[in-house]
Amino acid sequence: MVVVDTRNCTGIRGWPPGGSPVLYADRLRNHARACATPVPMQASTSIDRPRALAGQVALITGANTGIGRVTARRLAELGAHVFVACRSAQRAAAVIEEIRAGGGSVEALQIDLADLGSVRACADAFLGRDRPLHLLVNNGGIAGGRGLTASGFELAFGVNHVGHFLLTRLLLERLRRSAPSRIVTVASRAHYRAGGIDWEAVRRPTASLTGWPEYQVSKLANVLFSAELARRLAGSGVTTGAVHPGVVASDIWRSVPWPIRPLIKLRMISSEDGARTTLHCATSAEAATQSGLYYDACRPRTPSERARDETLARELWSRTERWVA
Ligand SMILES: NC(=O)c1ccc[n+]([C@@H]2O[C@H](COP(=O)([O-])OP(=O)(O)OC[C@H]3O[C@@H](n4cnc5c(N)ncnc54)[C@H](OP(=O)(O)O)[C@@H]3O)[C@@H](O)[C@H]2O)c1
Repeated sequence: MVVVDTRNCTGIRGWPPGGSPVLYADRLRNHARACATPVPMQASTSIDRPRALAGQVALITGANTGIGRVTARRLAELGAHVFVACRSAQRAAAVIEEIRAGGGSVEALQIDLADLGSVRACADAFLGRDRPLHLLVNNGGIAGGRGLTASGFELAFGVNHVGHFLLTRLLLERLRRSAPSRIVTVASRAHYRAGGIDWEAVRRPTASLTGWPEYQVSKLANVLFSAELARRLAGSGVTTGAVHPGVVASDIWRSVPWPIRPLIKLRMISSEDGARTTLHCATSAEAATQSGLYYDACRPRTPSERARDETLARELWSRTERWVA
């Protein structure tokens, strides 16, 4: 099998609304082409073993569409009991039906990652089921949006980082008690473009016109969080991994205007292929022996210099801890 190699991808620069949509379309097309070198995807040992996850319990956010939907379905096919934590019960209905039609076991939870009250209610609802938790997949996310979350964070940072930080913290004791267990956080190679974290800016509405610089910062936070979590969980039997899924033709591009959107999606990989690196981290024997790494195309890869900055990771952790207290 082959996937698109996004390792040389540096992300897409924002489009000025005053600029030319034709030039922007060109830029996006060139970007997708630059990413489109097929590379062999490393086989993931347990993914192809039937019922490899029988008896395991998994929880995944943002599972109603895109990469999360495929991941949830594959985990259920492998025998896991899957909790799909979605913003809308209505939008979650299709994935639940799909999993049940395939003989899988699934339950829905409601979560709005932008609202810390909703994140707490979701964790309470899960913990109240009195189930173990062997796998948490922090997958849900937005890109290219603008605003401030209900809990007072820049939109991408609040949803992609702060919401998942709190959810993970609230479920950590259950993950520890269920060890060996894993936490997979879907980050992005967009993190390479983040210049750092402006602690004031992440508490204000999105400043850029496109929301992409803020998305890059939120994804840097995902990689820093996953690595810091691994250090804090050392020896506990709970391992972590941060993932770049590839450049995937999912709904994440909803903020890119039509007709550019369908054009750029032509060169992207499918959500099926986009879910492979998450599934590798979630299920392979190899990834179970590793923690705190960043993966791209099912292989560990060196994240950006900033993402390897342990001082920054500790500061992000302590600040986020205070924010969600
Ligand atoms: N697609 C790519 O090329 C790409 C590349 C690198 C990284 N990623 C990452 O991959 C992950 C999955 O993205 P995707 O490509 O599959 O995008 P997607 O199709 O847009 O799916 C995103 C999911 O996140 C959910 N979500 C968004 N805001 C939420 C909120 N406030 N509370 C709860 N759920 C929320 C969405 O729910 P709704 O349907 O209700 O909005 C949806 O289920 C994201 O973390 C993204 O950053 C994607």
